[in-house]
Amino acid sequence: MSDASVRSLALHDPRLRLPAERLRVLLSRVDEDELPDDYGRGGAVQRLEDRMATLLGKEAAVFMPTGAMASQVALRLHADIRTTRVIGFHPRAHIEVHERKGYAVVHQLIGKQLGDHDRLLTLDELEAVREPLAAVLWELPQRDLGGLLPEWDSLVAQTAWARERGIAAHLDGARIWEAQPYYGRSHAEIAELFDTVYVSLYKSLGGLGGAILAGPAALVEHAREWRARLGGQLHNAWPLAMSAEAGLDSHLPRMHDYWMHARELAAALSDVPGVSTVPHMPQTPLFHVHIDAPREALDAAHAQLIHEGGMRLYRYSRTTTHPERSRFEVTVGADAMRLPVEDVRDAIDELARAARQHHNA
Ligand SMILES: Cc1ncc(COP(=O)(O)O)c(C=O)c1O
Repeated sequence: MSDASVRSLALHDPRLRLPAERLRVLLSRVDEDELPDDYGRGGAVQRLEDRMATLLGKEAAVFMPTGAMASQVALRLHADIRTTRVIGFHPRAHIEVHERKGYAVVHQLIGKQLGDHDRLLTLDELEAVREPLAAVLWELPQRDLGGLLPEWDSLVAQTAWARERGIAAHLDGARIWEAQPYYGRSHAEIAELFDTVYVSLYKSLGGLGGAILAGPAALVEHAREWRARLGGQLHNAWPLAMSAEAGLDSHLPRMHDYWMHARELAAALSDVPGVSTVPHMPQTPLFHVHIDAPREALDAAHAQLIHEGGMRLYRYSRTTTHPERSRFEVTVGADAMRLPVEDVRDAIDELARAARQHHNA
């Protein structure tokens, strides 16, 4: 059991993820005669790859040590068989903001930003593109926009636009698990819109780490080559694979409940002064909380609250374009479900008050 005395809203709070507890979960699931994988072949890794290929309705799937490697490899493979190395994505996509330009430095891809910085990509914006593209990456949900999701018809139209033109459609589905309840369609139906799909094993699935890249069998086999070439071929990846299997069994069936809880939380915050949620009603278990205070004041107030024994609300905050407003991300998972909505509301209320006091002091 995780330590019930730790009051934290932060997904992946290390104090809620102690190795001893995680090893106990793995031990409870492993057979005495289970064989390990050998450089990613066989054992739990193979089992996970097969299960993911089926779940996502793709021909094949390969384990990757990180999502960053999975998406970059998929995009370079799409570009390698086309006549251009230009790949399109939203300006706030993880691959642009958080991956240190790996797509350009390592894979010689040229990034083209598509759409408005603060809004989801639209079909009109795609239709306005005047240069050939090898691939377009969609991030579902768009994490840096508060977990926003395009409506289904728009997503269908956008991906069709690309594929009809021979442009590969790639999904950064790090949080496809969190997006699926909103669409009310199977993971395979969502994945079908894309040529290749990356999914994360350690975010809401709660695994130790790692990713899966799924798509056509030939492309997936080629991706194995790149995994080795990039130094990503682990001798034993079975602990990561097994913990992901555990996540598929225990967290995936609860994703709708996590989303509903996120909506309850956002509704409870709607009348708290100086606090707003983005989006107003979450489309996934992930959403943003905006606080009317600069980031430094927010962090000082948060540190003080934690020091006084209050609830930890986030691991890191971020600025917004408004100088007197900052934000933090919330993802409802099993741990957040254990915190009463009223307690979280009161903690955020107190945080916002204290942040304003720090700012005015
Ligand atoms: C939307 C998105 N894409 C990709 C990644 C990369 O995942 P990894 O840490 O496995 O490289 C992340 C990680 O936070 C993410 O949030």
